[in-house]
Amino acid sequence: MRKLPEWYYNEFVQTGTDYTDKEEVMSYDRKMQRIRNIGEEVKTMLRLVDPRPDDRVLEIGCGTGEFSIELSRHCREVIALDVSEGMLEYAREKARSRNRNNISFIKGGFLTYEADDELFDAVVSQLALHHLPDFWKFTALKRINSMLKTAGRFYLRDVVFSSGIDDFDELISKLLENIPEDVKDEMASEYILHIKEEFSTFDWVMEGLIERAGFRIEESIYDNGFIASYLCIKEK
Ligand SMILES: C[S@@+](CC[C@H](N)C(=O)[O-])C[C@H]1O[C@@H](n2cnc3c(N)ncnc32)[C@H](O)[C@@H]1O
Repeated sequence: MRKLPEWYYNEFVQTGTDYTDKEEVMSYDRKMQRIRNIGEEVKTMLRLVDPRPDDRVLEIGCGTGEFSIELSRHCREVIALDVSEGMLEYAREKARSRNRNNISFIKGGFLTYEADDELFDAVVSQLALHHLPDFWKFTALKRINSMLKTAGRFYLRDVVFSSGIDDFDELISKLLENIPEDVKDEMASEYILHIKEEFSTFDWVMEGLIERAGFRIEESIYDNGFIASYLCIKEK
């Protein structure tokens, strides 16, 4: 891992939900299956990333490994990063149980991972970039750009607030009201931590950061006023 100056952001200190906590890791998949449509998310990711058999793909913030595992069925090699050793252990076990052996799970993140000389064909990151403040998101995006081949694909999905929303208080109250009953308490505290302590930004900020980091946004999808998916192409 690269040596960083003292003033650098420490991405290993978790903001908001603590994904180094073993219990949190254990319950993460169950909660996600309940509140997300993982099958649809995988489909969208595969359609946009369009992985090819000879591709080498990097996932940053892989969590419990679901997306790396699906990607690994369509490409040569996946490098899957996370800053939480607990998440990585869980993901390694899941990959083993599904007989996937072309994924390397490595401790590291947006700011600290040191790629080798081989550039990636594609980079994927879902629901992880919001752990960095905007200044550091830009550093992360420039680093991703530098690890990709020219015309390489970068798929980013994250919590990003839509500028079309007039009343964010109402959006967030509705979000909390609509959590399914059986996961209401645990998800409500996770959402509240997200809003209070994590660093989700606005669509116009995110689009500016992506473009200034050297990408063209080929396709963007905004869902429910707070989720964005982008297919970005490395231009320079
Ligand atoms: C909300 S989970 C998302 C996991 C998975 N991508 C998904 O979609 O289910 C966020 C993940 O990002 C990881 N993370 C937080 N900060 C990170 C960083 N700076 N670099 C890489 N991963 C990070 C956390 O440890 C956690 O596993």
